[in-house]
Amino acid sequence: MHLSILLLFIYFREISAQFPRQCATVAALTSGECCPDLLSVVVPGSDRCGSSTGRGQCVQVMADTRPHGPQYMHDGQDDREQWPLRFFNRTCQCNRNFAGYNCGSCRPGWSGPVCDQQIQIVRRNILDLSNEERNRFLRILQQAKSTVHPDIVIAIRRREEILGPDGNTPQFENVTIYNYFVWSHYYSVKKTFLGPGQLSFGGIDFSHEGPAFLTWHRYHLLQLEKDIQDMIQDASFALPYWNFATGRNTCDICTDELMGARSNFDANLISQNSVFSQWRVLCESVDDYDTLGTVCNSKKGTEGGPIRRNPAGNVARPMVQRLPEPQDVALCLEVGLFDTPPFYSNSTDSFRNSLEGK
Ligand SMILES: *[C@@H]1O[C@H](CO)[C@@H](O)[C@H](O)[C@H]1NC(C)=O
Ligand SMILES: *[C@@H]1O[C@H](CO)[C@@H](O)[C@H](O)[C@H]1NC(C)=O
Ligand SMILES: *[C@@H]1O[C@H](CO)[C@@H](O)[C@H](O)[C@H]1NC(C)=O
Repeated sequence: MHLSILLLFIYFREISAQFPRQCATVAALTSGECCPDLLSVVVPGSDRCGSSTGRGQCVQVMADTRPHGPQYMHDGQDDREQWPLRFFNRTCQCNRNFAGYNCGSCRPGWSGPVCDQQIQIVRRNILDLSNEERNRFLRILQQAKSTVHPDIVIAIRRREEILGPDGNTPQFENVTIYNYFVWSHYYSVKKTFLGPGQLSFGGIDFSHEGPAFLTWHRYHLLQLEKDIQDMIQDASFALPYWNFATGRNTCDICTDELMGARSNFDANLISQNSVFSQWRVLCESVDDYDTLGTVCNSKKGTEGGPIRRNPAGNVARPMVQRLPEPQDVALCLEVGLFDTPPFYSNSTDSFRNSLEGK
């Protein structure tokens, strides 16, 4: 299972996201083809994947067909198996440094009209940003939280119900850029629906506790970074990083100047002096989606309560009682093998599993 997700990104790396707006149509879903024209052309289909300018071509999707590991025994029941074949079996493969669902953008690290200018993007320590840079970063996050994603929509039903009750009403919704970042993480970890009245299966997920952990999350962050670069039209925008392993065991970015201090009224809420106290939870009713076999949606007004930090108070997950310390990082880096059988949460001597905190 996890290995297949790792491979997914090798085969599928040109596709910037799951559901391009242009392919969330009855025609694309029934043909299985998501190869939009890049230029607006007189004859539809004459510039699929930017083919008229050599940017890419529409090809058969190759998904990994090797069997799942023993941790996943529900073959054939989840749309995410052999992604994206349940939805699309022909997608764009982009040439050179072109990328994106229609080959209309550039691979990370490249920019310019024909993606031939190499750019270096530097991710900086968030604590080293100047006041001005910090405020700009917060403004940008706020803008991402409220700007509708121009290219991507989210599926709000499983494949078998994706065309709607009448077979003609694709079940997709707009989503904001930041909420898309949240939603795609939710979609990768959501449980497998096994049928009405049956418990959904959450024994494994598609992005944690397996070899794809690092690859998946790198891609996830690259996607947000790219979406923000496009939003603010600045190809050099970089997400800052947080070095949490300082040995001080305090959340030094949990201040109102950065990610929000703790509320005085409720230790799990964010201080009202922070912009993040206004942010709402997306995908709050996970148990409902799992019971009904629906998928988290983003409709305005269905966003949940205020975001909470560490809602379980470390009670439900005692393994995260403290922040890692420098010696934890050093120990982790001493593990020489990337991952070991059974490639799961009980792998031993595995760099990946150590990094996941096991
Ligand atoms: C691709 O998907 C379409 C739509 O589901 C289906 O009709 C077609 O047979 C598939 N083609 C291949 C080669 O799997
Ligand atoms: C989604 O957003 C697009 C572009 O902003 C808009 O044209 C479209 O009507 C919206 N669709 C829905 C279902 O809200
Ligand atoms: C790891 O966990 C799986 C699933 O619970 C179990 O079948 C397997 O025996 C465990 N392997 C080891 C080495 O502990």
